[in-house]
Amino acid sequence: MLRYGQKSGLSPLAASRYRIPNRNREAASPFESRLMTQSDTVEQSNDEPIILRFDASHRRIDKKKSDEQTLGQFIPLIYHYNMLQDTDRVGGFRQAIELLVQPGMRVAELGSGTGILSSFAARRGATVEAVERNPELVKCSRQLIQSNGLQKQIKVIAEDASLWIPTEPIDVVICEMLHVGLLREKQAQVITAFKEHYQKRFGNKLPIFIPEVSILMCQPVEQSFDFAGYVAPIPMFQAPVETQPRTKQVAPLTAYQTIAYDQAIPTAMRVDQTYEANCDAVVNAIRLVTQNVLAIDMSKQHAITWANQCLVLPLDSAFSCRTGETVHLSLEYEAGQQIESVRYSVSPMIRRMQSRAA
Ligand SMILES: C[S@@+](CC[C@H](N)C(=O)[O-])C[C@H]1O[C@@H](n2cnc3c(N)ncnc32)[C@H](O)[C@@H]1O
Repeated sequence: MLRYGQKSGLSPLAASRYRIPNRNREAASPFESRLMTQSDTVEQSNDEPIILRFDASHRRIDKKKSDEQTLGQFIPLIYHYNMLQDTDRVGGFRQAIELLVQPGMRVAELGSGTGILSSFAARRGATVEAVERNPELVKCSRQLIQSNGLQKQIKVIAEDASLWIPTEPIDVVICEMLHVGLLREKQAQVITAFKEHYQKRFGNKLPIFIPEVSILMCQPVEQSFDFAGYVAPIPMFQAPVETQPRTKQVAPLTAYQTIAYDQAIPTAMRVDQTYEANCDAVVNAIRLVTQNVLAIDMSKQHAITWANQCLVLPLDSAFSCRTGETVHLSLEYEAGQQIESVRYSVSPMIRRMQSRAA
């Protein structure tokens, strides 16, 4: 039987390694999951959605499918306005930037959007190169930077950050193209390309990266997909809070990838993991949780963290399990790809062994 309303919490794993702020919000605000605007129409083709666009005469102008038209590389302007209001995100990055950026430093921001993170570095006395490839954001950020009086410290460069090479060495690189599981956005690819070009020009020593690390975690869960009596097992975003009344954690979170941005960044994600159920449950979904360590304040032995929205993915079929039983979770995807491309399953261990024997 499904039991909802139980207290559930993020894994002690993340909480014990890094101090994770308790963000006690009820549910994910829609903008934070960076979904489409309602005026955008989406066409599904293979794994990649295409945003249909029309000119003033109602003719389609999205003739070719390209990265610009897929979420991740392209984030509509309205979401940038909403991202500015996300106090956990902005506050975490601000703290990290104020800790690591010193007056006189050279800073690069890859994917600078409205320019807010660059502004924190500029206000610390750094000179900043803000690289953004969406022309709408280039224009918007130039205006905002000017109206904030920061145009002498911040130069907005209209370019693909994975091709851009600075002319002088950089002290700190800020890059927030982060999505749960490193899906959708191209954080992994852009930083990898940047490092490759940078080291060719300036040698092995790399700048400091903000964030420093992303920890990718998953777990089997029992999830309520009941929306006012209407049951819809759909992918769901959730705020990364300790109590999620619609979710029962069948087993603690386990980390499947820890990515340090100054090291080689893997893009092939794979989980093949067994869990012991810590409660009686109907397993009907998996949950992905991503915690980012933006910076570590060594003097206070404190990590400045920011968690992405969690992602709950429904299973094709649910099964019951009892406390102490073992379940197997498998997960496979490529960083930067769409959510629809994630392959995953959870099965009871006994059934798996029987099917192998058969
Ligand atoms: C999640 S937004 C963050 C924006 C900004 N850093 C902030 O914190 O508000 C990611 C930004 O990266 C930009 N972007 C994505 N891929 C890029 C690329 N290859 N080169 C430059 N900008 C890119 C997007 O247009 C978007 O503005």
